[in-house]
Amino acid sequence: MNVQQVDLLVYNIGNLVTMQGHPGPRAGEAMSEVSHLENGAVAIADGKIVAAGPEKEVRDRITGLYVAEELDAQGRLVTPGLVDPHTHLVHGGSREHELALKLQGVSYLDILAQGGGILSTVRATRRATEEELYRKARRSLDIMLLYGATTVEAKSGYGLTLEDELKQLRVAKRVNETHPADLVSTFMGAHAVPEDYKGRSGDYVNLVIHEMLPEVKRQGLAEFCDVFCEHGVFTVEQSRRILTAAKEMGFGCKIHADEIEPMGGAELAGELECISAEHLLAATDEGFEQMRQGGVIAVCLPATSFNLRLQKHARARKMIEMGVPVALSTDYNPGSSPTESLQLVMTLGCLNLRMTPEEVITAMTINAAYAIGRGDVIGSLEPGKQADLVIYNAPNLAYLPYHFGINHVDTVIKKGKTVVS
Ligand code: NIG
Ligand code: FE
Repeated sequence: MNVQQVDLLVYNIGNLVTMQGHPGPRAGEAMSEVSHLENGAVAIADGKIVAAGPEKEVRDRITGLYVAEELDAQGRLVTPGLVDPHTHLVHGGSREHELALKLQGVSYLDILAQGGGILSTVRATRRATEEELYRKARRSLDIMLLYGATTVEAKSGYGLTLEDELKQLRVAKRVNETHPADLVSTFMGAHAVPEDYKGRSGDYVNLVIHEMLPEVKRQGLAEFCDVFCEHGVFTVEQSRRILTAAKEMGFGCKIHADEIEPMGGAELAGELECISAEHLLAATDEGFEQMRQGGVIAVCLPATSFNLRLQKHARARKMIEMGVPVALSTDYNPGSSPTESLQLVMTLGCLNLRMTPEEVITAMTINAAYAIGRGDVIGSLEPGKQADLVIYNAPNLAYLPYHFGINHVDTVIKKGKTVVS
């Protein structure tokens, strides 16, 4: 990068994690190859990284340039801005009333089958005005940013009519335009079968394919299309139809796959070369193999399995061993994962998925960035990439998942500007 001046130099970084050195999503051992630089620095100009590495090298690189501002990191840990690649950010209401049912042992899918769960959030979202949804989504995004997330994916899927889906997507667009964090939008009209289509899911699938997808495309409101492929929700065949149509219209494809039952969702993700497949608790080795062949990123959501009190976890170790790139996300939503905290997910990723702190940070930065089609602009601190970084009140990477349940973030820099301090 050729620049006239440096806008911001972050120096005296005790532990700098740049995630440099591997083009593309990281799989297998590359997920652990994270260098921890002592005495690091990051130079920023025009919202982009000029140099990131050992302080001496960075200072050499910018010799002679005017430095407008310097920030002393006081020996602390710095990573790229965290990326949350799977959230249901925009929705109305909340579902704390389901907690009692859950404690009585009523399952997530049973609550949904009784017209609760996702469907109760659909009612609340339809009732809410665009302004209410906007304010609520912004509040959650504020928290995500405070906890270190600088880019967040956001799905629709609580409208389930053309107008209500467009309403959610418009809200996401407005939040993106007015909030320091960036949002990436996904259309998820196939999140549940709406009540008035009960027993006629095929008709609803047709509505998604023939009316919703083309209109969302026409208005440019989403980059990706996602489907909840699950027992009692959408079948593999219905998911294939929706995602194939979406792909033909130019959407990237995502799929909530094999969360509760092994349905063949992971296999479908591989077949369709989806950008990502999510959840995957019940996915088979064959499914993982097809995902690997199809270049699909696994997005694991350990806060969801924790909150649903599922006795099993996504087999992240197996996927890493098999060469499937793994990303991690909150799955923030009012039902199965009411948390905005990627730092909680770090702890659950370590303790429940048995990922190392290095694998966890890879999963929340570069791999998460690739899972939402942003691997070339964010996810690592490299010259030319967006200057999104987090300074933590922590001495090293392992400290983040280790000391859990609190917020370690000290400062967040987004596109070169300090947005949390
Ligand atoms: O990813 N699994 C489907 N969708 C969300 C939950 C949505 C909800 O319960 O409101 C998920 O877990
Ligand atoms: Fe989800």
